[in-house]
Amino acid sequence: MCGIIGYTGPLGAKKILLNGLACLEYRGYDSAGIALYMEDDSIQVIKKTGKVKALKEYCDQTVHKVSHCGIGHTRWATHGGVTDENAHPHRVGHVTLIHNGIIENYHELTEQFHLEGTLVSQTDSEVAAGVLNQLYQGDPLAAIRELLSFLNGSFSFCIMFDDQPGNIYAVRNVSPLVAATTNSGTLVASDLTALIPYTKDYFVVPEEKIVKLSPYKISVYDLDDNFTRISPEIMTINWDTDAAMKNGYPHFMLKEIHEQPEALKKTILPRISQGLPDFSDDGIPDRIFTDCSRIHIVACGTAMYAGMVARALMEPVLRIPVSVTIASEFRYENPLVDEHTLVIVISQSGETIDTLAALRLAKEYGSKTLSIVNVKGSTIARESDYVLYTHAGPEIAVASTKAYSVQLAALYLISCRMSLVRGKYSKEQSQAFLADMLEAIPAIETMLEQKDFIKTTSSHLMDQSDAFFIGRGLDYAFSLEGALKLKEISYIHAEAQAAGELKHGTIALIADDVPVIAIATQQHVLSKLISNIREVKARGAFVILLTKEMAAIDENLADIIIRIPNIDDRFTVFPIAVVLQLIAYYTSVAKDLDVDQPRNLAKSVTVE
Ligand code: F6R
Repeated sequence: MCGIIGYTGPLGAKKILLNGLACLEYRGYDSAGIALYMEDDSIQVIKKTGKVKALKEYCDQTVHKVSHCGIGHTRWATHGGVTDENAHPHRVGHVTLIHNGIIENYHELTEQFHLEGTLVSQTDSEVAAGVLNQLYQGDPLAAIRELLSFLNGSFSFCIMFDDQPGNIYAVRNVSPLVAATTNSGTLVASDLTALIPYTKDYFVVPEEKIVKLSPYKISVYDLDDNFTRISPEIMTINWDTDAAMKNGYPHFMLKEIHEQPEALKKTILPRISQGLPDFSDDGIPDRIFTDCSRIHIVACGTAMYAGMVARALMEPVLRIPVSVTIASEFRYENPLVDEHTLVIVISQSGETIDTLAALRLAKEYGSKTLSIVNVKGSTIARESDYVLYTHAGPEIAVASTKAYSVQLAALYLISCRMSLVRGKYSKEQSQAFLADMLEAIPAIETMLEQKDFIKTTSSHLMDQSDAFFIGRGLDYAFSLEGALKLKEISYIHAEAQAAGELKHGTIALIADDVPVIAIATQQHVLSKLISNIREVKARGAFVILLTKEMAAIDENLADIIIRIPNIDDRFTVFPIAVVLQLIAYYTSVAKDLDVDQPRNLAKSVTVE
């Protein structure tokens, strides 16, 4: 979703803003722009539809004077089409502003402040700029505080006022913003990737506070009568600059697929003590695992599919109901959760608006909340009762890969700890569980070594319009993520089906050459799945079978057979996920698509 960057300091602002926008590209966008406070006190706005690269070329040709203060934005269209006018920054009177989020009452505000006929864009953001301009009487803090009293919705803003040279004001409600003071100026951005080239120390802009960036200092003000100054909590980024670069890989996605063994080690190993899962360093008490009578997992997209795997793993062992709900449904459906429910919220970014709303609702219902989050200090992490951080480092490709694996690892650790403290696993069984789980890491490495073979699947998929993923039990849960991965980056319609369901309708779509990706790693249902494969094969399907090395399978059963190492059935998701990711990746590459930034998608979905 929209990316925000602001800089003021001794260095050239144009370069810093454009570099910052390039770092934020992964969030997904369709236009980009910057506004520079020039040395003659004028503000120059340059904005265009298309890529940051094109904006940079245009700026290099047209902006020759130096500026030391400015704001930049990548826009993911919500209100109004993809046009130069709708791109940010928006400039109204004394105010130049960029915005991420949605102002829900922008129609009412347009009428209330008589803005009809004065606006040049169709955006809710320009309405906010128009209102702020009318409220502004020379006191930025007072005007911004008054603006907030009129706005409904989620937002983060960066604002420059014509008569406040060198100063940038920022404020947010829900939508993310981080800020940092460095030796070479101050910065504000929608996420850390834009800050890491300059500093490791940052703070999360507190909600409903006003932040003022001056060249060498940042002040944070409460909205009380005196605008009391407050000190935000300084945090340290735990990844290095390399983590957000491609490092020789052609795409971030491929790099991130390869980072999975390391990410899993970082997430799992610090939480093993004497061979048992241990959350004492995370401050997660066992009572949340023993005191609940049901578990409700809430998330979106890939994170939700990680939840589906956890459900299939946990319920049979724990013998308590484990439900998984899409966060955007949960928040509006009067969910069946209460003080006896442990609500597990999963989010890579920690900012997904629906997941955040679901978390808040679960808390209102009195549930204990435990979040699994990758981005330190993000809103979901801060608002949950307990947080289990995953350590994947920054995930830049829009399609989630390493975040999925580490989310699974966190869920598996939770499952094991819960089984132990609820008496479902003995100490020995828990130790064996973890030892078996660690074998998944070399199994991933084995599959990465086979990537050239896995790549051959892409020539069968690239010209197809549909693909089907089938599996049973845990394999079905894995196939859901496999289908999502393929569709989002290769634009092939892909559908996951519990294999036993095929005959109840979907098999009507199987015809000559239709690809079916069958996942068969669960021994207890292997023979059933083999029958399902024969059924689709008999109807002409092109079958790509993912199974274990030891599986006794007729080599003619499928057109391509990809074998994973013989690890315990419960953990096959880890190598299988890598294979599914590679299939999607190579298909997208074969189609010459934008792998890292697929059309219409955004990395962090901060609007509903
Ligand atoms: C798909 C993908 C999305 C995210 C979803 C939730 O590859 O990345 O489906 O998983 O938008 O995002 P987070 O985990 O940030 O809440």
